[in-house]
This record gives sequence, structure tokens and C-alpha cells, in this order.
Amino acid sequence: MPDLHARPLGLLAELTHRCPLHCPYCSNPLELVTRERELDTTRWCSVLDQARELGVLQVHFSGGEPLARRDLPALVSHAHGLGCYTNLVTSGVGLTGAVIADLAERGVDHVQLSVQDANEVSANRIGGARTHEHKLTAARVVKERGLPLSVNVVLHRHNHDNLASIIALAEEMGADRLELANTQYYGWALRNRTALMPTQDQLDAAQPVVRAAQQRLSGRMEIIYVIADYHEAYPKPCMHGWGARQITVAPDGTVLPCLAATVIPDLRLSNVTDHDLAWIWYDSPSFNAFRGVEWMREPCRSCSRRFTDFGGCRCQAFLLTGDAANTDPVCSLSPHRTLVDQALSDIPERSPTPVMRAVAGQRVREWVEP
Ligand code: SF4
Ligand code: FES
Repeated sequence: MPDLHARPLGLLAELTHRCPLHCPYCSNPLELVTRERELDTTRWCSVLDQARELGVLQVHFSGGEPLARRDLPALVSHAHGLGCYTNLVTSGVGLTGAVIADLAERGVDHVQLSVQDANEVSANRIGGARTHEHKLTAARVVKERGLPLSVNVVLHRHNHDNLASIIALAEEMGADRLELANTQYYGWALRNRTALMPTQDQLDAAQPVVRAAQQRLSGRMEIIYVIADYHEAYPKPCMHGWGARQITVAPDGTVLPCLAATVIPDLRLSNVTDHDLAWIWYDSPSFNAFRGVEWMREPCRSCSRRFTDFGGCRCQAFLLTGDAANTDPVCSLSPHRTLVDQALSDIPERSPTPVMRAVAGQRVREWVEP
């Protein structure tokens, strides 16, 4: 039975949606927050104070690219001073030796670096910018500083065949952990779903490559391989349950039960400029909308797995069925599972051109065909 009064463990602080990359699988919302609407330093420090008081122990500074914020060092110092474990989730652009030295002094505990592909041409094409070499530098300076490094690679049709080289690159970088995460379809990724979805042949070929690498690198580099939930019979326990463990604060101060929650239109989201975080966590309509199991309909309501997967993902339920209270359509017991099966069977032989991520008004970069 979920504890309805549990305290949050983690804060995902999305400091900015600004980013030097334009990845077509970005999980940020289609409508990105502009710089003018970002919270200022004082407000972010207050968010950190309130989060710690609520029980938060881990702070993930993310974005967009958190290094785009000049006050990142001050925010890291503040979170560290509160006793939080701090994780920097970065594209690596701007992460020079001097920058990581400063951040390490201030208390960054861990760096999670995104990588688009193993070879420079493909990586730069997927990210829509020449950034691959910055990532190599970033990995080197993080390791020279002695910090733990996770490399995160989102897998899709355009890099799946390079899995072995991607693993070799992470090994060269000295990564302690490699996350190979097949694209989950939210935000820009959902918009580009047909262009990004890997073929069944690609997925079949990946399993033995990953297994062999996991065995070979055991004890040196942990490899996590996550297949897209579309290929599973039951959904993922999204966020370990709605309003159960983590708070996300968007760049403009909107407080979200998960990073995609802005897609659910009738969710009454609160903002840190209007309410304190404790009220938002315990009492706000948005955090209570799908907490626990009382909101569930059949087939979840009487299902024995309801305390295991919590009915799956509310955002996916809304995005695919138009009603966030429906069973996640990934579930084989959902009456809407055909929507997922249809998407899986609709993979065209030739990929359509993906739309690159861009802030409204920004010139949209075009996907460069290989
Ligand atoms: Fe999970 Fe609901 Fe499916 Fe049961 S019916 S497995 S609770 S999503
Ligand atoms: Fe929102 Fe799963 S991403 S509940």
C-alpha cells in the first residue's frame, strides 16, 4: 500500500530549458520556457531550502543545460551546504577543467553526461550542433577530478546499430556507469515517434551486444539497458507512483509530479512563486490527483499489480488515450493497448525526417540526412 504521507527524496531542478543541443528525442515539453521566465537565484535557493526541509536528500541540477545558468556554482554550494547529494545532469558543453574544478570544490557529487552517438559526425547530427568533442573533454576533466561519471545515451533508430561502439566510447571515457535508455515517447520524442522508433531487428540485435558487454565489464562499468515500455506487457512504475518520491521544478517555478505533467491539461499545477513546497507536496490538487490507488478505474482498480506499477504512467495515458485516469495503454490488460501495438507495427522502412527541438521563435534547425 503506498504511503500517502511519504516525504520526497529527490528534487529535479530544471534550471533552464536553454540548451546548445536540439535533440529530436528531448523529453522537455514542446512549449519550452524562455529565459525571461526563469526563476532567479534567490528563488532557487528558497526552493532548495524548502525541499531540504521537506526531506529531499538528492538534488539533480538539470535542464536544458544547467551550465547555461551563471548561478549554477552558487546553487551547487547552496544545495551542498544543506547536506544534499548533488548530481549535475549535463550535455558537457561548457564543462571545462576550470568549471568542474570549481563545481567539485563547491560540492558536486556526481556528473551525468549525455552522449548522442559513438562517432562525431552522427553524434553532431543527432544533437543538431557540433558538441561531440566537448563531451570528450567533459568526460576527461570529470574523471581527472576524481568524480563519478555516468554516461547517458538515448537509443533510437539512428544510433541503435552503433551500440557496440557506444559502449566502447563509454569505456574509453572511463564511465563508472552507462545508461542505455531506449527513447520513451514524451515531449519532442512523441512528436518524432515514427522517426525515432527502432526496428525489431535493431532491438533483437542489441540484447546479445549488451549482455556480452555487461559480462566483460562487470565490476568496472555498470551497464543499464532499458527497453522502451512499448515493448513490455506491463507498464513501468512511473515515478514509483504519483507524488511518491520526487518533485520536479520547471524553469519558471511550476512544480510537477513528474517531468511531463504539463501535458495533462486539467491538472491544476502550482508554482513556487504562489505556494510553499510543503503545501504543494502534501495538499495541492496536482500532487493528489493520482496519488495512491483510489483514483483508479478498472482494470487497475481490482488488479493485483496496482501496488507494483501504480497503473503505469499518467502522462502516457493522457497522451495516447486523451484521459490521464485511464490505465496506461502499454498494459496488455488495457482496452487501449491496440494504440501501442499500432505504433509498433507502423514503423516505416525509411524514417521520416525528425523535427529538432527548439524554443518558440528560435530558428528551427533541420535534421541533416546522413
Ligand atoms: Fe498495472 Fe493497471 Fe495493468 Fe494491472 S491493469 S498491470 S495495475 S496498469
Ligand atoms: Fe508523468 Fe509518467 S511521465 S506520470
